[in-house]
Amino acid sequence: NPPVKQNEETATISHPQAAVFFSCPDVSTMKPKAVPFQQPSQLISFSYTPEHVQEFTDSALRYYVDPPLGSRLNYGYDRWVRKPDDRGRIDALLKAISKVKRDSARGGGLPEIAVVSWRGVMTKILTVPYENRDAWELNVMLVNGTLYLEEHLTEDRLREKNNMDARQRSQTYYGYAFESYCTSETPPGEASAGNIPGAPLGWGGDVDTHIQWCSVVRTKLGDMRMIMGGEVDCVKGKYTGQTDTFVELKTSLTIRGRQDEERFERKLLKFYFQSFLLGVPEIVVGFRTPAGVVTTVQLFKTIQLPRMVRDKPGAWDPLVCLDWASGFLKELTQRVVDDRVDDTSASVWRARFVPGKGVSMMALDAKELEDVVNGEDRVGFLPRWYWDEIKE
Ligand code: A3P
Ligand code: MG
Ligand code: MG
Repeated sequence: NPPVKQNEETATISHPQAAVFFSCPDVSTMKPKAVPFQQPSQLISFSYTPEHVQEFTDSALRYYVDPPLGSRLNYGYDRWVRKPDDRGRIDALLKAISKVKRDSARGGGLPEIAVVSWRGVMTKILTVPYENRDAWELNVMLVNGTLYLEEHLTEDRLREKNNMDARQRSQTYYGYAFESYCTSETPPGEASAGNIPGAPLGWGGDVDTHIQWCSVVRTKLGDMRMIMGGEVDCVKGKYTGQTDTFVELKTSLTIRGRQDEERFERKLLKFYFQSFLLGVPEIVVGFRTPAGVVTTVQLFKTIQLPRMVRDKPGAWDPLVCLDWASGFLKELTQRVVDDRVDDTSASVWRARFVPGKGVSMMALDAKELEDVVNGEDRVGFLPRWYWDEIKE
């Protein structure tokens, strides 16, 4: 029962030699192999400033504090400094990798890396077996044996994200407001300025989504070494420079019945992988009313989630995901050809996931490639400065 199989049907898409199809596994019958996943270890961290400029400091790191029950998540909505959604390119992650290589040059640098991507991309790949709603597209390149993956947002999808209706927008804000109630700029034990005058109890400061703290880790899925980066919401206690005190914050509607419970259990799959991939050991969920009042706060240990949902109606098995993803990434590496056209352009491939069906792969044509380069100084979707660093 191979998790990945080729399907002749799709061989009619624009690049017949290139079209490949990876079907979704049947999760009710699949007997997954146990593919090992190595405990992630942090290589470097960085912050985005209020101008959304990347800097290699921990200026955006926040410390966990218990949020008061009854907190109103609509507080400060009209002062939300909102970062527009953009194509979220891979550049900042490559900057971090480049810095790690430079800093450790005398220590031998990095070993061969099989996959480089943001954590969000890897979460999408891992949850394919259970995803029955949201499609996605990735840009894929293979350079010197390393797969680079970035999400490809179509113009339509970008417009959609930037034009959320009022309800969606305020629900999204609730998530960020919860982060404000749960965090402080000062480490525990250090004198803080106290409660912000005029603000509700526990409010950590107005929401500015340009500001982010990110961790870049290395890990290994099966025999593939990976480097992933992603945002970490806060740390509990002191920052150790490792992932052991990381905390992920989430909000979710208060559970009132079997159906809510099942929906929540399904959602835990995404919470699980999002945290698991960066080695985040704890997830703090703020349950809220539809109007955004925090009713309860519950702590989940990331590694205990799979056992919690086992044999439940919304059950999922992370081994199914790890097995599928590892097969998928291996096949991608085999099939995506590292065909550098010359020193200034390289092939880019597009992976397109359709829920319940699978992932199709094809090489981009000239027009699509132009769209990926987007008039910027890039080779495929890699910034040219990075290309110049890694090309042999
Ligand atoms: P919730 O976590 O309470 O949903 P993250 O949880 O990944 O740290 O993200 C923080 C908040 O950003 C989320 O809060 C949610 O409000 C918003 N958010 C994250 N991903 C999103 C997405 N794909 N679409 C809409 N909002 C998103
Ligand atoms: Mg976050
Ligand atoms: Mg969060």
